[in-house]
Amino acid sequence: MAIERTLSIIKPDAVGKNVIGEIYSRFEKAGLRVVAAKMLQLTDESAGGFYAEHKERGFFKDLIAFMTSGPVMVQVLEGEGAVALNRELMGATNPADAAPGTIRADFANSIDANAVHGSDSAQSAAREIAYFFKDEEICPRA
Ligand code: TYD
Ligand code: MG
Repeated sequence: MAIERTLSIIKPDAVGKNVIGEIYSRFEKAGLRVVAAKMLQLTDESAGGFYAEHKERGFFKDLIAFMTSGPVMVQVLEGEGAVALNRELMGATNPADAAPGTIRADFANSIDANAVHGSDSAQSAAREIAYFFKDEEICPRA
């Protein structure tokens, strides 16, 4: 499988629970490398632009309110099949449906406060990485 990159966000609920390190540890144990990272306080504009694909959905307003409710940790993960692997580590969108041992099963409270974001395709990953990081902020490792 090819080496890929994916965009990951540790959302305000998980940052608030002080589990950034525990979540990073799951990425690392699965063979993903953090090649860029920053902590950010999102605004209505930056969160709204990031989630533009969901603008017409009923949950959009609540999603933006949640994503701006506290700092987020944003990172680029690199590794073999990184997009699908990160989605597997995350578990289903609704933590009630997430497989045991996944990040959302272990750290998420509800479908709207679900601990992590991960790109859902290589195409989304390219857009989402460019949304938060300049090329020179990404440090690929051997
Ligand atoms: P989505 O892209 O469908 O899920 P995922 O994060 O697994 O890719 O939705 C984006 C976020 O929107 C999701 O993480 C939480 C929120 N959301 C809701 O609050 N209610 C919903 O019914 C859905 C589908 C999503
Ligand atoms: Mg999604």
